[in-house]
Amino acid sequence: MVMNSKKLFIIMVGLPARGKSTIAIKLKENLLKDDIKARIYNNGDLRRQMLRENTSDPEFYDPENREGVSLRQEIALINLERAKNYLGKKGNVAILDATNVSRQRRKTIIGLLKSHPLLFIECINNDGAILDASIRRKILLPEFQHLTEEMALRSFEQRIRYYDSIYSPLEKERNYVRLDSLNNKILQEKLHDTLPFYDRIRDFLVTDSVKNLFLIRHGETYFNLENRIGGDSRLTENGKSQAASLGYYFRKRTIPVIFTSDKKRTVETAEPIRDLQKSCAIIRLSEFNEIDSGVCECMSYEEIREKMPHVYESRKQDKYNYVYSGGEGYVTMQERIDRGIKKALYLSGNAGNIMIVGHRAVNRMILANFLYRRREDVPYIYIPQDKFYHIVATQDRKLFQLKRY
Ligand code: F6P
Repeated sequence: MVMNSKKLFIIMVGLPARGKSTIAIKLKENLLKDDIKARIYNNGDLRRQMLRENTSDPEFYDPENREGVSLRQEIALINLERAKNYLGKKGNVAILDATNVSRQRRKTIIGLLKSHPLLFIECINNDGAILDASIRRKILLPEFQHLTEEMALRSFEQRIRYYDSIYSPLEKERNYVRLDSLNNKILQEKLHDTLPFYDRIRDFLVTDSVKNLFLIRHGETYFNLENRIGGDSRLTENGKSQAASLGYYFRKRTIPVIFTSDKKRTVETAEPIRDLQKSCAIIRLSEFNEIDSGVCECMSYEEIREKMPHVYESRKQDKYNYVYSGGEGYVTMQERIDRGIKKALYLSGNAGNIMIVGHRAVNRMILANFLYRRREDVPYIYIPQDKFYHIVATQDRKLFQLKRY
């Protein structure tokens, strides 16, 4: 094996819907930016190309189904061969993107890829809600189109169970990383060899990368007109026309998903944007619900000042740490907002554009995640309704712009 040849095989490992392809693409894109030639060999894509008959049937993945096993083995071998050829020529990094969950499959890989070192990356994510949302995205693939949503869900879940029945986590392999793919956190790292490009690869793995995030506040609501907080008010005519303008503004950008809260005002703002896109889904995340103002829900700031002057005063003293009785404060929202951002990034995969339609306090917290602000200043960040924030946070570029639409 040539250890100092600047060539590396990366082998992805993990159950379906664990973010393997997202990580593979992120690695490839970042390596290419550094002039390192990288290519992905994806078994699922090759399966869909090669097998004309539909392979969405979960029984195809049953480890007891000899025909299925041998077809999948054949596909894996073709990709191994292609990856080997690539590194034999100009390529630097070949990424094998497949489940590779069984020890047996990995032994075959190790046996066949002897020319250059191997790095295994296992993607782990057992968060039920995220998994459910990612499976719902997966079943939009053409291979599930002939099934009802319910049937497609059951089929995909059964496929996962079959893979799970032969799953053996990384342990004996020479070089590996076990990654919490939702939180971009390395859970375990074992390296016996000095691997080319490893310093960058490690860094790419743990860095959130946001190509374009459009952070929008919902349009004007009836509650906004009365200065009332919380609630679930709808958009005014002006709010609807703001939403329509947003739709028009973004019509030429590809927005595959819009994340909103559960509240009508964010969904009503997202709908006209979605309607001018070719293919776009609205995903509601309760993590992006507006700050719960507890006993003050639906009151106007003036009413609070009159009827509950102590609330008004204490909040003014320390707005970040003030927690509404029976509700939340900026300080207690932190955890769910972080979680919402992780969810949105995970579910967006490698989308070039991500959109979130949120609320005033929520958007302040999201902004603070990307932009350094002293905590005490976060509850005062300017969040207008006639402009949106455009955020870019990649390894080589940071942008933060308030734009009119
Ligand atoms: O638009 C009003 C609102 O979103 C309320 O629902 C929320 O309580 C408030 O803004 C948050 O802003 P502040 O923390 O400045 O009161």
